[in-house]
Amino acid sequence: MAANEGLKLVERDEDGVDLAFRADVLAGLSEVQKAVPARWLYDDAGSQLFEDITSLPEYYPTRSETEILSDRGAQFAEAIGPGRAVVEFGSGSSVKTPLLLHAIEPDAYVPLDISGDFLRAAAADLAVKFPGLPVHPVEADFTKHVALPDEVAALSKLGFFPGSTIGNMIPRTAVDLLREMRGTLGDEAMLLIGMDLIKDVDLLEAAYDDAAGVTAEFNLNLARRINRELDGTIPIENLRHVARWDDRFARVEMHLEAQEDLSFSVAGHDFEMAKGETVHTENSHKFDQRSSYMMLLAGGWTPCERWTDREGHFSLILAEAAIPRSAP
Ligand code: AVI
Repeated sequence: MAANEGLKLVERDEDGVDLAFRADVLAGLSEVQKAVPARWLYDDAGSQLFEDITSLPEYYPTRSETEILSDRGAQFAEAIGPGRAVVEFGSGSSVKTPLLLHAIEPDAYVPLDISGDFLRAAAADLAVKFPGLPVHPVEADFTKHVALPDEVAALSKLGFFPGSTIGNMIPRTAVDLLREMRGTLGDEAMLLIGMDLIKDVDLLEAAYDDAAGVTAEFNLNLARRINRELDGTIPIENLRHVARWDDRFARVEMHLEAQEDLSFSVAGHDFEMAKGETVHTENSHKFDQRSSYMMLLAGGWTPCERWTDREGHFSLILAEAAIPRSAP
């Protein structure tokens, strides 16, 4: 039995309440700056809303990264070479993963995801598109060390972490994750990682506050989820979606702002919000070349190639687990 098998990934009480969700929400709403970890944005409704966000005119990251993957296939093939096992952190989207697999012709594909349903759907989809490619899905929390399937033990790995999801973590968590990835993938590994770039503030804020209000719905869905799953009474109609650039930390923050003084309860606990007070729901860090390289190096990865889209909005970076030859 592989080390991940039989793992209970979600702990629930007798009423089916996700215990980690409840603990995070109760702790986060008790902070001076109320905050709920961004991973709770992604229930079924939230995942669908995020999918909708990726095709909005204002949300450039998906288009920009797809452009790089489409245009630079020959360069990926040369820099990465054939015969690796591609290990994707998060289930492959229907567009980006096939572009990479076509370009580098790996010997195996290992999608990792905490959601078994998403994982099986993505793996089945890829198996149809690439009939000769062995696909070995692993249901796992990839923020921790993951035992990869025996079938890929002899292959060098290429980690694939697109979408700038690394930007949703604060730097120390991002560095911890990069180190875990290195441990999971081994000493011969390479990593292809998407990182969104610092740019004009209006463009950045529009990408997280679109005219159609889809991102607002995505953010407000978190409050709906709290009401639904944790017996909450948050008055959703009195909350407003806010997306703002914080230049100190080079990130777009999402908040839910109280439009008037509010009192509500969650899981039997009472909370208050003064008018104008916010719940911080997401960080989306942006990078320049130096900050992205520094973060990779801190996480145990040596950058070797970097590609951007034509508008210079987004970067894909290839790094290797080996330390730089010039290191003393
Ligand atoms: C998943 N992640 C990379 C998205 C981002 O751009 O930070 C999540 C998102 N939040 C609002 N819009 C998109």
